[in-house]
Amino acid sequence: MAFTFFFRDAQTLNLAIDHFLPYIQSRRTITIWSAGCAMGQEPYTFAILLRERMGPNLFRNVKIYATDIDTYNQYVQVIGTGRYPEKDLQRIPPDIFNQYFKTDPEDPGFVYISDEIKNAVQFQKHDLLTFEPVRTGIQMIICKNVLLHFSAEERLLVWNMFWTALESGGFILHEHTQKIPEELEGKFTRIVMNAQIFRKPEPI
Ligand SMILES: C[S@@+](CC[C@H](N)C(=O)[O-])C[C@H]1O[C@@H](n2cnc3c(N)ncnc32)[C@H](O)[C@@H]1O
Repeated sequence: MAFTFFFRDAQTLNLAIDHFLPYIQSRRTITIWSAGCAMGQEPYTFAILLRERMGPNLFRNVKIYATDIDTYNQYVQVIGTGRYPEKDLQRIPPDIFNQYFKTDPEDPGFVYISDEIKNAVQFQKHDLLTFEPVRTGIQMIICKNVLLHFSAEERLLVWNMFWTALESGGFILHEHTQKIPEELEGKFTRIVMNAQIFRKPEPI
């Protein structure tokens, strides 16, 4: 089972949102790709944080494509139903828990995520090592704690695939402990010093 949890690295996700919101404020569709999303904790956390900052009207424009290799065909079911053990949600602030989760009436040990959040996230089985993007014209890619398992050559190919998938000006968010390959010099601009948040430069 993949290691992940709700509200993991929420500080970095919120920092990315600080920079992202002015960029997407007048968009009718906001397309985000959570690559290597495990059982949905990362895309659902990002959806909740965005909903908190955007409010219900603008949030309706958000679509998060959550993908994973999903080796054992489990994630499609979990993410599709948005049902999680209540004990997995202990890190969530109580007000967030009360607003976005409800107890399963048939099993009080489990909760369902709200339809508003669930409807913003769509799971798709996808192998990053095909080097084919799930779509192009994306405004934000989140890929954390996935590429460290790949070879240097594979990482470079995946980063180039992300470059193709992003629109010019789009954002990419990576885990703090990894550097991006030196060969990508000029293809991405790091926008903060305290987190691995990059943008694809817009043409001059
Ligand atoms: C440690 S989890 C990270 C989950 C989440 N991104 C986070 O940071 O909490 C790594 C995930 O990468 C997925 N993964 C591994 N190889 C992959 C590949 N080739 N394509 C897509 N996903 C992959 C695994 O299935 C697993 O769910």
